[in-house]
Amino acid sequence: MSLLQGLRVLVTAGPTYEDIDPARFIGNRSSGKMGFALADQAAKLGAEVVLVAGPVNLTTPENVTRIDVRSAAQMYDAVMASLPADFYIGAAAVADFRPARYASIKIKKQDEDDGLTLELEQTQDILKSVANAEMRPSLVCGFAAETHEVETYAQGKLDRKNLDLIAANRVGIENSGFESDNNTIYVFTRGLDGKQQFGPASKYDVARSLLEYMAQLQSQRQG
Ligand code: CTP
Repeated sequence: MSLLQGLRVLVTAGPTYEDIDPARFIGNRSSGKMGFALADQAAKLGAEVVLVAGPVNLTTPENVTRIDVRSAAQMYDAVMASLPADFYIGAAAVADFRPARYASIKIKKQDEDDGLTLELEQTQDILKSVANAEMRPSLVCGFAAETHEVETYAQGKLDRKNLDLIAANRVGIENSGFESDNNTIYVFTRGLDGKQQFGPASKYDVARSLLEYMAQLQSQRQG
């Protein structure tokens, strides 16, 4: 099937690791499965696919160009260097914060009872940057992992980050979110009321449904 023939699709996947010192980092529980499923399905639908992947243990889908990165800053650079694209899908769980300073030698314990205070600073918002870039893709899709009030927070992100659509999933429940092979997403689209639900289904099926929906949206906007 060649629904996405002639389109370039840029996908991010996985967590980012923000180094504290040579032995430690701040990471998160993203497995990368949803982003890899999106890249795989986009390629199967005929798109030219670039997948920017954080540290994950997954094999590269067929016919996909993969760029491996570690930190949010590296992901930002790789994404910006991969524009232009027709669709951008930010499925990566990019760290929102990183240590303000990297310690080039391992931080040692001081006195027995002393804790350690880390100063964190915000990372650059890749999704927002892509959505406001000069070479803005025609469809920019974000992901939102929420534990509660999914709809309110997802709608807020749609507006705040200047997105065309946002796929929200609930984390912290069975058969959804981070480490699961299955997922349920609720898609909110700019200018449209209500939401689309895809799943519960395998991440591959959910990915295909989201891409088909994006293709439909794209052709409606062009027509
Ligand atoms: N994202 C990004 N760059 C960042 C942080 C997040 O591109 N530095 C993208 C993710 O890829 C995902 C979406 O933004 O598509 C997730 O946003 P999230 O981090 O949940 O949103 P925030 O607005 O930071 O809200 P929250 O307070 O829930 O963290």
